[in-house]
Amino acid sequence: MLRRLAVPALLLPVCPLATDITSLPARCLTLQHTLHLENTTILNVTHIPAPATVATPGSCQSSATVTSAPLCRVQFVINTTSTSAVHAEAWLPDTWFGRFLATGNGGTGGCIDYGAVDYGASLHFAAFGTDNGHDGAGGGAFLDHPEVVNDFAFRAIHVEAVIGKQLTEAYYGRQPAKSYYLGCSTGGRQGTQAALRFPADFDGIVAGAPATDWNHLMGWSGLLGHFVGTTTPGDESPPPNTSPKFIPAAMFPLVSAEILRQCDALDGIVDGIISEPDDCDFNPQALQCAVDQTSGCLTPFQVQTLRNIFSPVIGTDGNLIYPRYSPGAEADPVSQALLGPVFFQFTADWERFAVLNVTTHNFTDFGLQDIALFDKINPGGISTFDGHLEAFRARGGKFLTYHGRRDPLISSTNSKRMYELIASTLGTPSLDDFYRLFLIPGMGHCSGGLGPTAFGQGTAPGLNVVNASSHNILLALVDWVENGAAPATVVGSGANGTERTFCRFPMQSVFNGTPFVCTD
Ligand SMILES: *[C@@H]1O[C@H](CO)[C@@H](O)[C@H](O)[C@H]1NC(C)=O
Ligand SMILES: *[C@@H]1O[C@H](CO)[C@@H](O)[C@H](O)[C@H]1NC(C)=O
Ligand SMILES: *[C@@H]1O[C@H](CO)[C@@H](O)[C@H](O)[C@H]1NC(C)=O
Ligand SMILES: *[C@@H]1O[C@H](CO)[C@@H](O)[C@H](O)[C@H]1NC(C)=O
Ligand SMILES: *[C@@H]1O[C@H](CO)[C@@H](O)[C@H](O)[C@H]1NC(C)=O
Ligand SMILES: *[C@@H]1O[C@H](CO)[C@@H](O)[C@H](O)[C@H]1NC(C)=O
Ligand SMILES: *[C@@H]1O[C@H](CO)[C@@H](O)[C@H](O)[C@H]1NC(C)=O
Repeated sequence: MLRRLAVPALLLPVCPLATDITSLPARCLTLQHTLHLENTTILNVTHIPAPATVATPGSCQSSATVTSAPLCRVQFVINTTSTSAVHAEAWLPDTWFGRFLATGNGGTGGCIDYGAVDYGASLHFAAFGTDNGHDGAGGGAFLDHPEVVNDFAFRAIHVEAVIGKQLTEAYYGRQPAKSYYLGCSTGGRQGTQAALRFPADFDGIVAGAPATDWNHLMGWSGLLGHFVGTTTPGDESPPPNTSPKFIPAAMFPLVSAEILRQCDALDGIVDGIISEPDDCDFNPQALQCAVDQTSGCLTPFQVQTLRNIFSPVIGTDGNLIYPRYSPGAEADPVSQALLGPVFFQFTADWERFAVLNVTTHNFTDFGLQDIALFDKINPGGISTFDGHLEAFRARGGKFLTYHGRRDPLISSTNSKRMYELIASTLGTPSLDDFYRLFLIPGMGHCSGGLGPTAFGQGTAPGLNVVNASSHNILLALVDWVENGAAPATVVGSGANGTERTFCRFPMQSVFNGTPFVCTD
């Protein structure tokens, strides 16, 4: 449950707001007629007393979302070209602290992240969200619409920032003092892309579990399906997976138990969490059926499947294409999206609709040639695997990124790889002055998993229980941007008051007999 926060001491207004609070509801409603923003049509304006449930448009959301602060809600659409448009919402709290917050999306969607928008408004940001240029969780809108792909790849967040800041100023009578971004997964990629392509859009960015190196991520995801013998995405009526390579979901607990047997103790404590999965040299041979053994074990084909899953993808030129699946992450049920009987929907949508511009495709022989094609076409310049953050850094921008080490959809090892790419591009081994990566042992994709993994990441209710910058990554970002206080660690909160301190890369989380500590 989302506990409503008292006003955090550090998150004071950046300067006092002169607007007469009593006039805000009336002032809100006039926006319907007074807002004149480039390429933008105002669809609806309402003032919402809190707490309230509101109807949400589009096909993604359930019918109601809670608003946790009294606010002015503006629904609008920005035409980005003659064949593309971004639907967006502004949630403008009555008590505004002078800050702007844009939020991102997930997967191949298409869905305003209302939870994140509400979270931002509850912390007194002028909070925005968009549909990323198309409605719905799938990628069908990409077909024959390269400008919709461009919105998805880079433009939706940019117009969210440009138009959103103008709208904020029109309502409150002055420009936001600082601008922030919050997103995870595809949202993490969008935040990274913003820092690379539009370095003036945000002063601070939180980019969780970023889907950077998107083309290779889509390729790796497709290859995982190939390793387990899947051929068909869910929307094309997949046949049952009868491949000898396939490992049924019911067998994975056996696999996970063996992985823990081999690797759980590496971090100094047997607690079900592999703090550093890159140290886990898992050998699946131990699971292979002995002569005469027919249950509780794997066939040689299945053992080979595990070898493939837990090996990095290497190109024909010998270069790394994408890191391996993290041992331990297969225990998260979401892993079935990649390792289950159906070909990964995001890869299928991306290849069919954005890359090939076809409605159906045979994925049976998915392989390195598909990844080479993704690289060659790189629709919308989506790759987002580039270290050139000079301009963002020179403006004083601050970047916080985090990644669950038990992430079942995107390897956290890729976030280390991104860090190293930026460091080598900028010619500096440490990025501490503007870019910090926190690796989160036990956490799944963006949130959840094992242990205390709530630290204000705002992607789901219940994550934002502590309002200090030491325990809340969005508040930590504000503190860094506005007070120069860079976060050394992030503390996660869990059930029954449990906590764990998370380390910034390249420090390691080590159990020293009492709690975990961070060491070089
Ligand atoms: C939020 O932070 C302030 C100041 O640090 C504190 O007084 C208040 O109790 C906190 N509220 C919650 C809900 O933790
Ligand atoms: C946006 O595009 C739609 C459809 O082409 C058009 O009807 C509308 O007038 C455009 N709005 C603006 C503000 O350009
Ligand atoms: C605008 O929002 C109000 C309040 O949610 C709703 O009653 C009304 O139907 C909406 N109007 C349009 C045109 O969507
Ligand atoms: C408005 O749309 C045109 C293209 O249709 C684009 O060139 C221009 O940059 C857009 N303006 C904004 C503020 O996005
Ligand atoms: C997509 O394919 C359709 C049907 O073959 C074709 O008419 C259209 O021009 C293609 N669009 C693009 C952007 O290549
Ligand atoms: C898909 O490709 C495989 C391998 O090339 C082939 O055996 C199979 O018949 C194809 N399926 C369809 C529906 O065309
Ligand atoms: C929290 O404490 C309660 C009551 O002691 C217990 O039932 C529950 O299992 C605990 N939860 C966790 C996650 O440890």
